[in-house]
Amino acid sequence: MSGRIVRAMLVLGALGCIPGAAGAQPAAAPVPTFTKDVAPILQRACQSCHRTGSIGPMSLISYEEVRPWTRSIRARISRREMPPWHVDRTVGIQKFKDDPSLSDREIATIVAWIDGGMPRGNPADMPRPRVFADAEWWNIGTPDLIVTLPEEVVVAPAGPDWWANIEADTGLTEDRYIKAVEVKPGPGAAIKVVHHAVASIVTTDGSPTGGTLVEYAVGKNGDIYPDGAARLIKAGAGINFNMHYHSVGEEVRDRTRLGIVFYPKGYVPKHVMRTIIITNSDDLDIPAGADDVRTDAYFKLDQHSRLVGFMPHMHNRGKRQCLEAIYPNMAVEQLNCVNYDFRWQIVYNYADAAAPLLPAGTILHVTSWHDNSAANRSNPDPLNWVGFGQRTTDDMARHWLTFYPMSDDEFRAQVTERLAGQKQATEGQGQP
Ligand code: HEC
Repeated sequence: MSGRIVRAMLVLGALGCIPGAAGAQPAAAPVPTFTKDVAPILQRACQSCHRTGSIGPMSLISYEEVRPWTRSIRARISRREMPPWHVDRTVGIQKFKDDPSLSDREIATIVAWIDGGMPRGNPADMPRPRVFADAEWWNIGTPDLIVTLPEEVVVAPAGPDWWANIEADTGLTEDRYIKAVEVKPGPGAAIKVVHHAVASIVTTDGSPTGGTLVEYAVGKNGDIYPDGAARLIKAGAGINFNMHYHSVGEEVRDRTRLGIVFYPKGYVPKHVMRTIIITNSDDLDIPAGADDVRTDAYFKLDQHSRLVGFMPHMHNRGKRQCLEAIYPNMAVEQLNCVNYDFRWQIVYNYADAAAPLLPAGTILHVTSWHDNSAANRSNPDPLNWVGFGQRTTDDMARHWLTFYPMSDDEFRAQVTERLAGQKQATEGQGQP
């Protein structure tokens, strides 16, 4: 090969690496365009929050709306801060329901578009606008029971974020099995100020039927349980609404509601789901200014179980939380880690084909890390020790976990089905 040809190839190769210059070279990928490549990603992953009347600070629908925000978008998506979804992608299970997060490829597409000069592209490529359901619409169908905040909450035009726990009666006089649940702010403009709402069942007798029921976060549609699976809500139970309100420059009133669809009376479900909190509040001992302060908590499963979903819950110093399974033979498997951000309370529901199936005797081990240093931007007071407490300024290390126990036979059946599914998937991948 002559020296000249080699040099020409090197130059070509180098040009291919410079974003923006790529369009000039037939060999390199063309710069993505807004209408064809970027708009569909924003529709799927951003517009539920970033549109007029929702919680995002700006609308990301038209080219004109997106253009001024591209610097900030580039930074936020590259750091994976947007969309809010904090599962560590390098550890454990990655398949979840309602996962809005961007793939590496989607991030690369948006970045290449921004770095390549943000071409608008052919208007004919623009996808049809995404249609959003009326805020009054229940995705779970018409609820049999609606539990509403006891009083309207008035969110002032300006003020600090407000985290509140508000309890409401259900008025239930008999035990019922839940088929589907959904929580939503309302009416009207309330969607702008409700950052999140987590509804939990409160039992007076401390029975294990309590715990997180469902969370509202923009873009989620409520939970419809698979046929045969249910949550039990007992007569006299209350609902706790854990709310995060955020002022938006105008006075907005909210009366968040929980809708429940029941199974028919007398129905006996095959699986009854339980939500537990794995926590170790006594050991929460976070010195002033300290980072990476670790606490461990454990829970032993007495029966074979299928994990359905989880929600880390810490406060301002919360940094990271991991869940691992210690099997009866002492083999250890990392299930998930979450890089925690207190401003977002997210329930991560496993995809059906990925929900962990754990034999009786498995110990669930939760590790939490807190950052009480000044480097933590959410830290209200790095100069003081902090321990467990209910106030936002205290801290917590809780892992809400939903699972259902199973018989021997059923566990074996589910494991067999899972292995068959995995085998099929692997064989499928092997095909050309
Ligand atoms: C679940 C709702 C939600 C989704 C989905 C979401 N955002 Fe956001 N976004 C917010 C909220 C609320 C804020 C303001 C608070 C903050 O900065 O974290 C925000 C802030 C931002 C900012 C910072 C704006 C500034 O002031 O500089 C950018 C940029 C952004 N989002 C881009 C995106 C992009 C791009 C997507 C999709 C890939 C996305 N967001 C998805 C709710 C959301």
